[in-house]
Amino acid sequence: MPTDHVLKLYSKTIQSSFLHYGFWDDPEDVELSSLSLQDIKNAQYRYIDHLASFIPKETKSILDVGCGIGGNASFLLKKGYSLEALSPDSYQKSVILEKFKQDVTFHHCKFEEFESKTIFDLILESESTCYIDIHQGFKKARKVLRNGGYLLASDYFVFYRDQSKSLHLKSSHDMNKYLESAKENGFELIKQYDQTDNTMLTLDYANYLVERFINPTIDYGVFSANKNFPKISRALGLLFSKKWQKKQNQLDLINSDLFRKYRKYMIYLFQKI
Ligand SMILES: C[S@@+](CC[C@H](N)C(=O)[O-])C[C@H]1O[C@@H](n2cnc3c(N)ncnc32)[C@H](O)[C@@H]1O
Repeated sequence: MPTDHVLKLYSKTIQSSFLHYGFWDDPEDVELSSLSLQDIKNAQYRYIDHLASFIPKETKSILDVGCGIGGNASFLLKKGYSLEALSPDSYQKSVILEKFKQDVTFHHCKFEEFESKTIFDLILESESTCYIDIHQGFKKARKVLRNGGYLLASDYFVFYRDQSKSLHLKSSHDMNKYLESAKENGFELIKQYDQTDNTMLTLDYANYLVERFINPTIDYGVFSANKNFPKISRALGLLFSKKWQKKQNQLDLINSDLFRKYRKYMIYLFQKI
């Protein structure tokens, strides 16, 4: 199965073993210009530390669904859980096999297509819920969990819609549909936590980097090309202007005000009943 090159880019640039937003305890006290990549990695560690605090005490075995490049898996193995990992992504497969060798059984497939011989106490979906079909995901979770087992999902959901074409309305599940499907498929919501305020600083930092480094660099590149190669530069401008506008629109995704308008970043702990 193919590689998600956006996720691969994050893993190569941030060089962290996590592919999620991170968790900020006191975001209002943080000065963006003083942040380092290490601060982002520390926030990503706090995210799994906080998320793991929702794992019920009796849990022994975990299926890490959408395991990324293994940061959460490492954390949970160190805590003493037995763990299997799953991802459809070929690049992530190579990283996980190299990192854990025989210590972790890895399943290279979409969760919807997973066929399991093992039954788990808990399924973890850390920022992978929105990739998985809602109904098929709950149906599969029922099959793979023991009776009374848990599904711990941490991801962003759309709670408000308007007529806009905002990208925040795409590639996230509708919150009400998700919660209704949980009920229909025999899952009881036993805990929830809104971590939007604890996660948005990562978007603000991405936005800060774009405005401080990327935009001025592009401006300079365009200025330089116009000056030195005016004809080619005009032709390329005409050719790529639509594509460029599309890319610019994608920057809305790192606008935390727009995120807050449409989405909430939730932790949901469900129990199979
Ligand atoms: C944003 S990453 C999160 C990675 C990791 N859980 C973390 O918190 O660092 C999303 C993960 O979901 C995986 N994924 C995408 N589609 C999936 C599917 N249909 N079933 C299971 N995992 C999927 C991706 O390959 C990736 O591992």
